[in-house]
Amino acid sequence: MKILLIGGCGFIGFNVLEHLISKKIKNLFVIDNLSGQSSKKNLIQIKKKYKKIRFKKLDISNFNQINMFVRKYKPNFILALHGQVAVTKSIQNPRQDFNNNFLSVFNLLETIRINNLKCSLINLSSNKVYGKINNLKLKETKLKYQSKILVNENSNINFESPYACSKGAADQYLIDYFKLFGIKTVSLRLSCVYGENQWGTEDQGWIAWFIKRSLNNKKIRIFGSGKQVRDVLNVKDLSKLILTLMKKINLVKGNAFNIGGGKSNTLSLLELIKKIEKKIDKKIKYTLNKERFGDQKYFVNDLSKIKKFTGWKPKISVNKGLSMYFDWIIKNQLKK
Ligand SMILES: NC(=O)c1ccc[n+]([C@@H]2O[C@H](COP(=O)([O-])OP(=O)(O)OC[C@H]3O[C@@H](n4cnc5c(N)ncnc54)[C@H](O)[C@@H]3O)[C@@H](O)[C@H]2O)c1
Repeated sequence: MKILLIGGCGFIGFNVLEHLISKKIKNLFVIDNLSGQSSKKNLIQIKKKYKKIRFKKLDISNFNQINMFVRKYKPNFILALHGQVAVTKSIQNPRQDFNNNFLSVFNLLETIRINNLKCSLINLSSNKVYGKINNLKLKETKLKYQSKILVNENSNINFESPYACSKGAADQYLIDYFKLFGIKTVSLRLSCVYGENQWGTEDQGWIAWFIKRSLNNKKIRIFGSGKQVRDVLNVKDLSKLILTLMKKINLVKGNAFNIGGGKSNTLSLLELIKKIEKKIDKKIKYTLNKERFGDQKYFVNDLSKIKKFTGWKPKISVNKGLSMYFDWIIKNQLKK
C-alpha cells in the first residue's frame, strides 16, 4: 500500500508520519512545499531519522505538477495534512489561503478522478466551518465561558472568514466527490490540536505560543476576554485516529467528522495561563485586546459520530498532554 502524506513536514503531518512509522507502515512518501513555520526544521529531522522516507518539494496548488506526480506514483491513500492554518492570514491574503486550503484539495480530488485511481483521501478541515454557534446560553465565570451545548455534524455550517470559506468549500467537495464519483473521502473538522513539534505563532497555535512566551518572560497579547473555550486534542490522539480511519475507510468514506478533545478536554485561554503559572511558579504578563474577527467564544465538539463509526475517543487528558508538551518545549527550546 502506497501512502502519500501531503504537508508531511508540518506539525500534524510530521506527527502522523512518525506514528505510521512507529506502526511499521511502509511505502510512505512525503510531499510539502516547505512554506510552513517549521517545515524545513522538520524535514531535516525526517531526513536524519528516517533515511528510507522519500520526499519531494512540490506546491500542490499547481495542478500540473501534482497531477503528473500522482498519475505516476498511484498512491492508495492521500493524507492531505497540508494547508494554511490561520484565520488572520486568510484575511491578509485570501488568495494564498484559497490556493493552499481549497484549490490544493480540489486538485487532489481531480487528479484521483481524472486518472481513475483507486485512492482514498483524508483531509483536514476545521471547526471554523460552523462559525459562531447560536443559542449557546453562555455563562461567564472568572476564567471561562461555560455552556452545555456540544457541536455535532448536523449543526448549520456558517462560513465567517476566507479561512472558513476555503476549508468549508474543500470539505463540501470531498463529500460531493464521494457521492458523485465514489471517491473514498473523509473530512476531519478539527478543533484545536496541540503537542510535540508545534511551535506556534501569535496567529495560530495558541497553546504553543503562550508556553513559549511565558518561558521567555515575554508578555502575551490575548484577543478577547481570554475566556474563550476550545476542546483541545493532543496530536498523538489525532495521529492514532488517522490510522484508524485508513483501516476503516470503507465504513467512514463520504463522511465529515467533528474532531477535538470533546467535553472532557476543554481549556480557556485564562485557564491555560493559570496552568503555566503553576508549572513555572511565576506570574505571566498579559494584556487583553480587541476580540478577533471570526473567533468563537465557546466551541466544544460532540464526538458521538466518530465514536460510533470507529470507537475512537481521545485518550490523553488536557493535564497530561500539557505536561508532556511542556517538557518537550523546554527540551527543544533550549536546543533552538
Ligand atoms: N493545528 C491545528 O490546531 C489545526 C486546527 C484545525 C485545522 N488544522 C488544519 O490542519 C492542517 C495542518 O495544520 P498544521 O498545524 O500541521 O500546520 P503546519 O503549517 O504546521 O503544516 C502545514 C504543512 O503544509 C505545507 N503546505 C502548505 N501549503 C502547501 C501546498 N500548497 N503544497 C504543499 N504543501 C503545503 C506546509 O509547508 C506545512 O509543512 C492545516 O490545513 C490546518 O488548517 C489545524
